[in-house]
Parts: sequence; structure tokens; C-alpha cells
Amino acid sequence: MPGLLSQSQDPGGFFQVKGLHPTFGAEVHGVDLATISDEAFAELLTLMAKYGFLVLRDTGLDDTTHVEFSRRFGELDDIRPYMTGGRKPRYEYYELFDAGNVDADGKPLAVDSPRSHYGKGNGFFHVDSSFNPRRASYSLLRACRLPPPGTGGNTDFADSRTAFDTLPDELKQRLLDNHYAGCHSLHASRKRGSPEFFADLKPEDFPMHRHALVQVHESSDRMNLYIGAHLHHINGLSDTESWQLIWALTGWATRPENTVSVEWENEGDLIIWDNRAVLHRAAGGSYEGKYARDLRRTTVHDASSTAWGLNEQVDTRPGFNSNGKSQTARALGV
Ligand code: OGA
Ligand code: MN
Repeated sequence: MPGLLSQSQDPGGFFQVKGLHPTFGAEVHGVDLATISDEAFAELLTLMAKYGFLVLRDTGLDDTTHVEFSRRFGELDDIRPYMTGGRKPRYEYYELFDAGNVDADGKPLAVDSPRSHYGKGNGFFHVDSSFNPRRASYSLLRACRLPPPGTGGNTDFADSRTAFDTLPDELKQRLLDNHYAGCHSLHASRKRGSPEFFADLKPEDFPMHRHALVQVHESSDRMNLYIGAHLHHINGLSDTESWQLIWALTGWATRPENTVSVEWENEGDLIIWDNRAVLHRAAGGSYEGKYARDLRRTTVHDASSTAWGLNEQVDTRPGFNSNGKSQTARALGV
């Protein structure tokens, strides 16, 4: 099968590596991330290119060391576009996206709060920041507070490189021949997550950004399907053709055998994924509305040759107001 991993150990010998799925994902142990050497970090990048996402347990990172470690991957994105109306983040760093369900007092958000409605879009498989002109490469998500075991809250992954490799030949050839551009919209995925709450929101009224639907993942030299819940339409196709193609690809990429679910075990667990090689989603659970799940994420600006896709190279990151129409914007993980 294309993309099948040999379960060999880390060739550099810095880590213990345990594969999580036949084609992608691994748990790695054995290195203190706060003091990792350049050689071990280079090896970590090699493992990232091979596996697409890595789970690191009980890292001991805090907000400061999480941000510092993340800077080794490249230039970091920040949450300023989501912080309108003078709102301050819950914590010191603008580089930390709030992917949790915790309000300003540390209490779990009510399930009918605007932020909960906003967060529902993350329950669909997606890649972070595909709606930006410059997309994201890596995301580093860290558990600060977890709900009790057995109440859900896993993060799921889908292998979008193997999804391309295993496509039926005719569909694969159609994608290679047509050089389709996908148009991505944060507003579209928010509306899809909670259509009634965002009934008045028209994604077409907001900027969308374009990235090639199929492209080479440069660090592994493998092809990738760049899709996910922010993908609103495919340039140049009719609405019907566009939806047929998007659903065919999404359905294929997210078949159960192409996905894996990761349980958060300890505060301090960190998952690093490459948005150019995998899709991810928040799996949800019975903790919602009852228990805090405080997860914080740094997001790295892509530095590959296709980072800006088909967009102008200007910093116009779409923000979002989670009330749909009124003043209060929120610091949110997307
Ligand atoms: C994210 C995200 C999933 C989760 O932080 O980008 O989608 O399980 N998180 O919280
Ligand atoms: Mn996400």
C-alpha cells in the first residue's frame, strides 16, 4: 500500500518511536523539549516529515517554554485578528491560540455560548489557517487542563497524503490534470458547524483565500490533498461540481481506516501536526458544558514555496466575531 510505514526505529537514535497507525502518526519519547539539541531537533523534523503528526507525552512545557520551543519551527502566527474590541487574551502570549472551552474565569463554557457555537466547526476534519493568504505549516497543541478520563475530548487525525496516493486512478488523474485551486473561508466552516446560530452570516461577504487543491508536501516529497472544513468551493467549477468533488475527496480522506484518534493522557501532553500533510478535528464528548478542557496552540507560518498559495503576499488574516454580528470577538483556536 502506498505510504505504508516500516515500523523502524528513529535512525538518529534520539527518540523512542511508536507508530500509531499503519500509514502515519507516532508517539515519541525520550527528549526534554525545553533543552533539545539542534541535532535532536533536526531528527524531530525528519520524523514530522515521515509521520505527519507526533504525540509527545507529559512534556513539562508551560506557556513560555511552549512558545519558545515552537519558535524553532519558524515564524509564529498570533491571535491579534481575533482580539477586537480591546479584549485581552487569557494568558500573556498572543502566540497562543485558545483551543479550549474555558471562559475568562476558568469555568467550562456553556454549550449555548457564542464561543461554543464558534468551536463546533473544529469538530469537522480541517487544517489550521487554510483561510489565510499565508497558510500554516505546523501546529503545536498542548494540554493545560483535561476533563476526567472517559468524558471524551480526543483529537482525531486523517492522513491526507495517503488519501491522495490511494485515490482511484481516474480521479487522481483529473486532479493532476486540472490544477484546481480551493477557496478557503473561516466563516464557511463556522457556519457549517452551527448553521442556525450563524444563519445570517454570509461567507461570500468575507475574504477567502486560495491554495492548490493538490500539491507536493516539500519535506517528504509526497503529494497531499489540501482540503478540510474551511474549503468553501473550488475555483472555476459550478456549485454542484464543486460540492461533488469536495465531498468525494473529504469522504475518501476521512474513511475510518485512514484516521486515528488520540487520547490526551496528561497535562503537558503536546501534539505537533503538519497541516500540509494531515487533517485533524476535535472529537467532542460528554465533558462539553461540564468540565474544563484547556488546550493552547501555537501555529507556525508556512515557509515552503507554496506557503502563499495563489494569494497576494499581504498580511490580511481574516478575523472573526463569534457573535456573528456584534462587537465581541474572541481568542479562539481554529
Ligand atoms: C486546533 C484544533 C482540536 C482539539 O487546536 O487547531 O482543531 O481537539 N484542536 O481541540
Ligand atoms: Mn484546528
